[in-house]
Amino acid sequence: MEKKKVYVGMSADIIHPGHLNIIHEAQKLGSVTVGVLTDAAIASYKRLPYLNYEQRSLIVQNLKGVDAVIPQTTLDYVPNLELLKPDFVVHGDDWKEGVQKETRQHVISTISQWGGKVIDVPYTKGISSTQLNTKLKEIGTTPEIRLKRLRRLIEAKKVVRICESHSGLTGLIIENTSVEVNGVKREFDGMWSSSLTDSTSKGKPDIEAVDLTTRLHDLNDTLECTTKPVIFDGDTGGKIEHFVFTVRTLERLGISAIIIEDKVGLKKNSLFGTDAVQVQDSIEGFCAKIKAGKRAQVTDDFMIIARIESFIAGKGLDDAMERALAYIEAGADGIMIHSKHKSGADIKEFCAALRKVNKSIPIVVVPTTYNHITDDELAGWGVNIVIYANHMLRSAYPAMLNTAKSILANGRSYEANELCMPVKEILELIPGTK
Ligand code: SPV
Ligand code: MG
Repeated sequence: MEKKKVYVGMSADIIHPGHLNIIHEAQKLGSVTVGVLTDAAIASYKRLPYLNYEQRSLIVQNLKGVDAVIPQTTLDYVPNLELLKPDFVVHGDDWKEGVQKETRQHVISTISQWGGKVIDVPYTKGISSTQLNTKLKEIGTTPEIRLKRLRRLIEAKKVVRICESHSGLTGLIIENTSVEVNGVKREFDGMWSSSLTDSTSKGKPDIEAVDLTTRLHDLNDTLECTTKPVIFDGDTGGKIEHFVFTVRTLERLGISAIIIEDKVGLKKNSLFGTDAVQVQDSIEGFCAKIKAGKRAQVTDDFMIIARIESFIAGKGLDDAMERALAYIEAGADGIMIHSKHKSGADIKEFCAALRKVNKSIPIVVVPTTYNHITDDELAGWGVNIVIYANHMLRSAYPAMLNTAKSILANGRSYEANELCMPVKEILELIPGTK
């Protein structure tokens, strides 16, 4: 008699006895196919797994009791179930409650069409993936793993959310903060090392006056206490002869990408627009810089993203598009399009024009002025990475200023106390303080 078909879906990032128990139970029922969730399927509802799909699938293929492994490309089981028509779907009984409840119902109604049944295996107590994940975070990361992560995120996610970090503390906020939106956990995917906030926090103007060595020295604080990928704001990239060294240095530190802007001469912050004299590089000049950077990098994973300043400089879509195509041709791994207009209409138009001729090049935007547009909407325009470029510093400064004023006005800190986090909390904020 032909063996019954059994389907098990799992992420299999950290295999623990709970997984083995489910496979063991599944094996008793027939021939076991495991659908290993792809990075994209997992990233649709939680943090990108530690191991990539190929690694996770290899591990599962070698588990006792597993007969076959296939990718499950969505959180929804139905496509694989329709393909396989299994007699049983085996899962831990924890999915009877919470956000997975609906998924379970969906599975039941699908497989009942051909007489299939869901088997809920009692959840293995005393082992928790959440706890293991916390431990994993404590282990930290390596430069290589961190560097590769940005490309994995771009592949796996509809939109990659990046937030500015200028210190270890802001790095920790980005690393650890999450909120739940419609039952789905949402968190930032990585950090933006901003020239504006790096300079401002040192009391210096954003004109490339803070040198690379100093910026990297401070960025090290963020790298020390986080595991998420970093995109580095490389300003103009400087002289080509210097830029090639910058690329290698960043790569060695495990930074995933550098964004360089097509400006020459004394760089001023783009949000001044045409109020400041800013000169755009020639297409040839900037392409030469991109090419030199690409030749200099050691890994295939590091990204050099070209930032187009046409809209900032008061030019139109034609100039921006001409540059985008030339920069991509020169080897740019992504295009950042910037604007200080409030509507976002120019960005939308650019994305539509670029997506018409190029479906895959990652598009990066910095919606500081057109901030009414959500990152999900931007993704709908064809954007891959959204950078919240200065918000940690811009929110910290008024908070600190208010406290300073309150202490001065009252001649004591009693009134300011409620503006501050409790001392107990700050003592407990960083593990190991006690
Ligand atoms: C930065 O954060 O330093 C940037 C983005 O380059 S912007 O300030 O908008 O130019
Ligand atoms: Mg900058």
